Amino acid sequence: MKISIVGCGYVGLVTGMGFAKLGHEVTFVDLDDRKIEAINSGKPPIFEKGIEELMEKNAGKYKATKNYESIKETDITFICVGTPSKEDGSIDLTFVRSAASETGRVLKEKDEFHVVVVKSTVIPGTTEEVVKPIIEKESGKEAFRDFGLALNPEFLREGKAVEDFFNPDRIVIGVKDERTREVLEELYSPFKCPKLITDIKTAEMIKYASNAFLATKISFANEIGNICKKLGIDVYEVFKGVGLDHRINPAFFRAGIGFGGSCLPKDVRALIAKAEELGEEPKILKAVIEVNERQPLRMIELLKRHISSLEGKTIGILGLAFKPDTDDVRESRAIPIVKKLLKEGAKVIAYDPKAMNNFSKIFPQIEYAGTGQEVIDRSDAVLIVTEWEEFEELNYRGKIVIDGRRIKKAREALVYEGVCW
Ligand code: UDX
Repeated sequence: MKISIVGCGYVGLVTGMGFAKLGHEVTFVDLDDRKIEAINSGKPPIFEKGIEELMEKNAGKYKATKNYESIKETDITFICVGTPSKEDGSIDLTFVRSAASETGRVLKEKDEFHVVVVKSTVIPGTTEEVVKPIIEKESGKEAFRDFGLALNPEFLREGKAVEDFFNPDRIVIGVKDERTREVLEELYSPFKCPKLITDIKTAEMIKYASNAFLATKISFANEIGNICKKLGIDVYEVFKGVGLDHRINPAFFRAGIGFGGSCLPKDVRALIAKAEELGEEPKILKAVIEVNERQPLRMIELLKRHISSLEGKTIGILGLAFKPDTDDVRESRAIPIVKKLLKEGAKVIAYDPKAMNNFSKIFPQIEYAGTGQEVIDRSDAVLIVTEWEEFEELNYRGKIVIDGRRIKKAREALVYEGVCW
């Protein structure tokens, strides 16, 4: 098939390159010149494991352009633009609206049936109440008759997005018309995982409920972890036992300093905002966010048990990315931690294998080290914020270490404190 992808972030790029590998012809559309140039020269505009190789091996099967007109030559358009948070937590649909209207304008000039698939994470109701009327107005055509419209959420983890694209747990397709359903069933026929066909609103909600539940698991593990810490119990042992119950499953119980990234915090907040708009009080979801906001600051409380005044002290930070194997610092737990340390008058020296450049855009005033060992050697105490594998190779002897992510080797430190263990 000929596929166009609007929006070349993690989701758009990985989805498009995945389809290219499966033999489709892919056209990427984005407004950012830098991304277009990078893709056209076979270089990934983002850091994501496996994507460069995928781009090299499938050269010739994809191209990138700024021109929306090229959608016309394709059979399906995936809208993969970002849905950031507004101040009040609700989602900002600016990019979704403009992608829909540009797509609609192009469809006006096309006679054949064209399928538009929303892959961006959007609050239930958005595809039919926002995207559909925009495309209809701009194209002068009727949805589900002249063009298809569907919602197909992504469940890609950053750092493992390529692996997740080819080995999904499930594929969710929200559709209304038969023709669109057939096109998407054919597109996804090489995948052998369970496929769930639902109406559009349900598919939108599956994405939110999945991310909200993952976030809940983490905050729950952290709350139990905080209690365990007081009782002298290892929370990781506890969840090993809990996770063996087949109704529960062991994943996503890694207690520590909470969740960051581009999805979990934003999606939970958006769901809270929507629930409140509907007159519901989402008590659990609010608590999930509260626990998550408090958790990174517990590291500083633990640190102050050992260094009561941080004024003028050099505090080392190991890890700035919101999780390992990415350069992404969006909602990284390092942000509130560094903010608090600076407020307390500490000097901060940080290291991350991939995310220093991105982090320095938010915190240009802190020092960035060349290696993790330099951070340890030059600081009065070290906070471990991201569990990069290379942090297992460092020498922590003689130091005060507060560990937010369970790095085994750090236990050799003079003083070692786990945040929940
Ligand atoms: C998430 C979802 O997993 C994915 O399905 C969705 O499509 C996008 O959002 P991602 O944001 O890439 O993916 O990261 P994920 O691996 O889910 O981790 C999110 C955050 O939770 C990270 O900050 C991580 O450190 C934290 N986390 C995860 C924990 O603190 N404990 C855990 O047990 C698991």
